[in-house]
Amino acid sequence: MSDLGIIEEGAVIIQDGIIKDVGKSSEILKDFNTEGFKVIDAKDKAVLPGFVDSHTHFVFGGYRPDEFAWRLRGDSYMDIMNRGGGIANSVKATRNATKQSLVVLGLKRLDSMMAFGVTTVEGKSGYGLDRDTEIKQLEVMKKLGDKHPMDIVSTFLGAHAIPPEFKGKEDEFIDHIIDMLPEVAEKKLADFCDIFCEKNVFSLDQSKRLLLRAKELGMGAKIHADEIVQLGGAELAAEVGAVSADHLLQASDQGIKDMAEKGVVATLLPGTAFSLKESYARGRYMIDQGCAVALATDFNPGSCFSESIPLIFALATLYMNLSTEEAITALTINGAAAINRAQSIGSIDKGKLGDLIILEFPSYRFIPYHVGVNTVETVIKKGKIVLSEKK
Ligand code: NIG
Ligand code: FE
Repeated sequence: MSDLGIIEEGAVIIQDGIIKDVGKSSEILKDFNTEGFKVIDAKDKAVLPGFVDSHTHFVFGGYRPDEFAWRLRGDSYMDIMNRGGGIANSVKATRNATKQSLVVLGLKRLDSMMAFGVTTVEGKSGYGLDRDTEIKQLEVMKKLGDKHPMDIVSTFLGAHAIPPEFKGKEDEFIDHIIDMLPEVAEKKLADFCDIFCEKNVFSLDQSKRLLLRAKELGMGAKIHADEIVQLGGAELAAEVGAVSADHLLQASDQGIKDMAEKGVVATLLPGTAFSLKESYARGRYMIDQGCAVALATDFNPGSCFSESIPLIFALATLYMNLSTEEAITALTINGAAAINRAQSIGSIDKGKLGDLIILEFPSYRFIPYHVGVNTVETVIKKGKIVLSEKK
């Protein structure tokens, strides 16, 4: 994760949206005819792969600013959820929202992410908890993918919370969610299935049952694991062959070892730990144990209403003891691995998508050094300039 493979005085050639060549300018541009190409001068500026935000919940109706105030007063995230607030409030608003209104909000949120250099984002359903609203959220993401330059990878998170109508009937609710899987898989509405595996939400057994069925139907598995309580979500992720386990604030040594062995990506969401005033996941330890660590924003209306990549860099480097290089790997190629896209995005390599960002400064090292400030000047998606803030 420390080796970024920096090329000084480099160049990238993109044709038809795909990287055709990358290397030293003096070599790859020597006999190259630029006729018919748009030449972008990035002299004295760093060029990086576009960021991959591999864990978000960005399609939702309504907002929950009152909860932020309650948490400042001392209530915990789970206190609020257990008294019927939290996710349930976003569920109410999302059930009532029209598809069109969710598309309009989604486009604004994607623009904001793209300004931070994100070129691919994962988005989860989970604010419906019923068939129609879950499908509505997934269809909105599909539509957003057609309308917006960014690529969107969808995850079905029907098992995000227990809706009031299933209170006390968690097993039945999981059956209900399992019944939705064939439609989601057949219509190709989601690549992944995720679950909030947590004390007082869904158990290890319920999580295993859902994720194994999703895998049978060809979907990848993801888990919101060991966020508040050490339940064994990391161990479960390794056991079911999940693509990633996410949050992991309380993950055990054994769980981390299992994940490293099975190649489960540890997706860490320090913005959420920060917003909830929780202790951070043990990112340094995980990397030292051989885990592939990804970083993501967890952008959502409750636990972390932020799409800020500079915030993630600040927290990962200053509070989780990742080096700048490791944080960049975690937001590029490891983020791509967390959504099964490492073959096509996440690094500047021949044959991958031409997804690049150009910084205002001459080195990637300015990203966390310029604390909490956006240093991205130009965003290129599949070879096209989609944002330019040239100063
Ligand atoms: O990843 N922990 C559960 N789910 C989300 C929060 C969702 C919400 O509060 O709306 C998370 O933090
Ligand atoms: Fe999440």
